[in-house]
Amino acid sequence: MSTNTITDIHEKGLFKTLRTDNWWLYPGLVVFGLSSFLIYGFWSAWQADYYWYSAGQGGFGGYLAPFYSPLLFIKEGVEGAAPMEHSLFGAWPSWWPAWLPPSPSLLILAVPGIFRFTCYYYRKAYYRVFSGTPPACAVGSLPRKGKEGYKGETGLMIVQNVHRITMYFAVMYIIVFFYDAYLSFFRGGELGIGLGSLLLLGNPILLTCYTFGCHSIRHLVGGRMDCYSCGMMGEVAHNNGKIVGWLNQRHEFFAWFSLIWIMIADFYIHMVSMGNIIDPSTWSF
Ligand code: FES
Repeated sequence: MSTNTITDIHEKGLFKTLRTDNWWLYPGLVVFGLSSFLIYGFWSAWQADYYWYSAGQGGFGGYLAPFYSPLLFIKEGVEGAAPMEHSLFGAWPSWWPAWLPPSPSLLILAVPGIFRFTCYYYRKAYYRVFSGTPPACAVGSLPRKGKEGYKGETGLMIVQNVHRITMYFAVMYIIVFFYDAYLSFFRGGELGIGLGSLLLLGNPILLTCYTFGCHSIRHLVGGRMDCYSCGMMGEVAHNNGKIVGWLNQRHEFFAWFSLIWIMIADFYIHMVSMGNIIDPSTWSF
């Protein structure tokens, strides 16, 4: 197939292609996955209640829905809210606008949201499916300006560079999630295990696999080195780079797996807190 033929396809219009395979399946799944996540995230954050479960017991331990962690402030008197000692800064602030629900989730979702939104893998996915430029390889795209009009990520989308900064915050969130997982293995100070504990433990493990396969981290730990055989630091960078490189090759897989897992874990805690699901656990023996 000549280059001219491919150019013609793009010029003929959106979705025009000579491909005979199910090229639309991948972009279709991406639309479904990302839309479901956005709708669920909005629903969960807007709830502002039933994000904590400890079977009515005080003391150390309990389940915290991941979309609400870390808890910066807590509104007292809300059904299914965490005890005040779990709040980093105390009671709910008086400056919070009355038209917004007093949801701790609304305070903390922006940073991980921006981290995901600017991830190199997700960029590829949503540039294709939401802006159709092009929807898939060798498939006609939306009308574009010529090459001279293409600015890549040096134009408006230069904001995507914020990714390398939000990456540091994402690592901090993982530490907090590991603490939440640790907390979930206790109820009323008693050590045990429930399905919620396993879901809350799987969450930071998968997020670690996703985040440490990040291109920015790969650059940080070894990718920026010009010479791996030059001295001890080169060797250290090479070894680090191999681990991050392994995760990086599976970045798409961990991007989706961690996204789905955190949704399931969050939904599960909400349902258990509302009393819609009984959490199977050793505490109930
Ligand atoms: S490139 Fe995907 S998390 Fe950084």
